[in-house]
Amino acid sequence: MKKKNLKVVTIGGGSSYTPELVEGFIKRHSELPIKELWLVDIEEGREKLEIVGSLAERMVDASGIDCQVFLTTNREEALINADFVTTQIRVGQLDARVLDERIPLSYGMIGQETNGAGGIFKALRTIPVILDIVEDMKKLCPDAWLINFTNPAGMVTEAVMRYGQWEKVIGLCNIPVNAIEEESKMLNESPRNLFFQFAGINHLHWHKIQDNQGVELTDKLLDIMYGGKESKSIVANIKENNLILEQVKNLGMIPCPYHRYYYLTDRMLEEELKDFEENGTRAEKVKKIEEELFNIYKDTNLHVKPQQLAERGGARYSDAACEIINSIYNDKRSIMTVSTKNNGTITDLPYDCVVEVTCFITGKGPVPFNFGNFEPQERGLLQLMKSMELLTEDAAVSGDYGTLLQAFTLNPLITSGFKAKKMMDELLEVHKSYLPNFFDEKEL
Ligand code: G6P
Repeated sequence: MKKKNLKVVTIGGGSSYTPELVEGFIKRHSELPIKELWLVDIEEGREKLEIVGSLAERMVDASGIDCQVFLTTNREEALINADFVTTQIRVGQLDARVLDERIPLSYGMIGQETNGAGGIFKALRTIPVILDIVEDMKKLCPDAWLINFTNPAGMVTEAVMRYGQWEKVIGLCNIPVNAIEEESKMLNESPRNLFFQFAGINHLHWHKIQDNQGVELTDKLLDIMYGGKESKSIVANIKENNLILEQVKNLGMIPCPYHRYYYLTDRMLEEELKDFEENGTRAEKVKKIEEELFNIYKDTNLHVKPQQLAERGGARYSDAACEIINSIYNDKRSIMTVSTKNNGTITDLPYDCVVEVTCFITGKGPVPFNFGNFEPQERGLLQLMKSMELLTEDAAVSGDYGTLLQAFTLNPLITSGFKAKKMMDELLEVHKSYLPNFFDEKEL
């Protein structure tokens, strides 16, 4: 029989995204009876946890649902008998992201949160912490599902499976959710009348669209998006959406917004460097947005999610997390795109790696729609990036310098050679307190 009173634990509960999560649970409460919502954060995040936690309490009170919000910095206490655990942590907080973005830019390379050298270092800092959380879950809530939306979501989810030996994990990203919403509008259709099939890995996937009669709309959308007037980007953190029409038409699939880093590296770098000189990096901008958001959250009259949260690139993430939980709990079989084990869905990638693909979300977890194989134009980049990811995860766990250098060498956004090695050494040095696997205790 289905359990009636669910316990959900959100690690990184002090995040500015939490109000969206709370809103998502409130609106689904009649089918998803969450009785306890535990928001957990670390000591350094206590102030934010208290501000966003009070807003969460006000939202729950105003909704009248039967649910209690708990705020704690004691992760173990929170995890006892949890049914679902969500992770939205940022190891090193935004200051670490500033360095991930600034340092590569200072070497004339892409500086970005999930791509290039910055993305690799975010994975190195995050993977050991996530594996610790998994160890706690093994002891305290061995039947729980882990829904991870900590970036880089694909690598973090894969590390949980490969090194944490934890199979009940799903990685989540907002890009497919945004694509479905925004591209349906471009086609003047309701998303319900369309079928989107995504395949690839996190922040590097492609998709096709058909109408409900099976008619392909992919080519038509490519023309709308890239054929004439520039279309708006579907995420707040990537400004433009212009790719080279002849190249994308030849792909025959719609690339995700992050492909701009790979298909238009020169333009992206120019834009990033210009922004960097004029306004600082995206992380610095996000710091300002966060300050404003937390000031708004402090208003004790506020008891709904404020509109300004849409300025963050990750909007719609949390709502999707609520839908995954709902779909597992009720075996709803909602169609969603998530990071899950490949199991042969994409024949070009290892059987046991993690891929981001369209799935039914069932009571037993995601069941992917079979995709098959890619053409060489997608396959080349995909296999390269998957190898880069596997090496990064290995390095995060082993702390092996040579393995990390291999990941750097493979990454297409890093110009390999002595400059890359110097940049890697600088990043290792500035992040050393978050990289215990790379340094002896006395070096920290
Ligand atoms: C996107 C991505 C997320 C990322 C976010 C960054 O939409 O899919 O993975 O976290 O943007 O947004 P931010 O506002 O932090 O730059």
